[in-house]
Amino acid sequence: MSSTLPSVNSSMPKHVAIIMDGNGRWAKQQGKLRTFGHKAGVEAVRASVRYAREQGIKALTLFAFSSENWNRPEEEVSVLMELFTFVLKSEVKKLNRNDVRLRVVGDTSKFGAKLQQLIEKAEKLTESNSSLVLNIAANYGGRWDIVNASKKIAEKVQAGELALDNIDESLFDQHTALSSLEEVDLLIRTGGDCRISNFLLWQLAYAELVFTDVLWPDFNEQYFQQAVQVFSSRQRRFGLTGEQVESSVGVTC
Ligand code: FPP
Repeated sequence: MSSTLPSVNSSMPKHVAIIMDGNGRWAKQQGKLRTFGHKAGVEAVRASVRYAREQGIKALTLFAFSSENWNRPEEEVSVLMELFTFVLKSEVKKLNRNDVRLRVVGDTSKFGAKLQQLIEKAEKLTESNSSLVLNIAANYGGRWDIVNASKKIAEKVQAGELALDNIDESLFDQHTALSSLEEVDLLIRTGGDCRISNFLLWQLAYAELVFTDVLWPDFNEQYFQQAVQVFSSRQRRFGLTGEQVESSVGVTC
C-alpha cells in the first residue's frame, strides 16, 4: 500500500463509518447493469481501506449489505453474495500482510455455509492485527443491533449474571456489534441522499455526518481526504471556510 496524499494534520477521526451508496446509478450512467456498479465499488473499498490505514484511522466500518437489501431482485442479491465471497478469498491475505483486522458485523447466520466459513477463517487469520480494524457490516441493521444487545443483556439478567443496576451506557455498548471499538466520529454517505438508513443508530450519537453526491465507485482517496477535512474544520472551527469545503467536496447536506 503506497501513500500519495499528505496527512491531514489537524484532528483526524479515529473511527470512520461509510454508507457506500450509488453503485446502481453509476452503472446506469455507463449503460450497464446495476451489478456492474457493485463490482466497480470493490475498487473504492480498496482505496478507502488504503487511505484509512495510511492516515492512521483506527477503525473503518463499511455498510455492505443491510437487513433490507434481501428485498432486492434475487439476481442482484446473488451477485452481491458472490462478490463478498470473491473479495474474502482474494483480499484477505493482503489485508493480513498490511496488519488489518477484518470483522464482519451483522447477522451472518443468514448467509450460506461457505460464506460463513470464509468469514470465520478471515476473522481468525487477522484477529491479532492492530493497524486498522475493518468492519464489514453485512446483513446489518441498527435496530437489529440494539435489539440483539438488549437480548444478550436480558439473558444475563435472567441467568443471574447481571443485576439491573449494572446496566448503563457503557455496558450496553459492550453488547453491540462494534463493542470495544473507538466511538464512530465521522460518518460519510456517498450517493447524494441525506439519511442514515438504519445504519449504526446507537454508535452515531456524536458522529459528524458528511453527505456527498459522489457515487460510490467514484469515491477515492482524494474524496475521503476531503470528507476528513470537512470533519476537521467542523471539529476545530478553523481551517477551510464552509464555502471552500462545500464547493470542493460536493457536500450536499
Ligand atoms: C449501494 O448502492 C451499495 C450496496 C448495497 C452494496 C455495496 C457493495 C459493494 C461496494 C461491493 C463489495 C463490498 C465489499 C465490502 C466486499 P446501490 O445499489 O443502492 O446504488 P443506487 O442507490 O445507485 O441504486
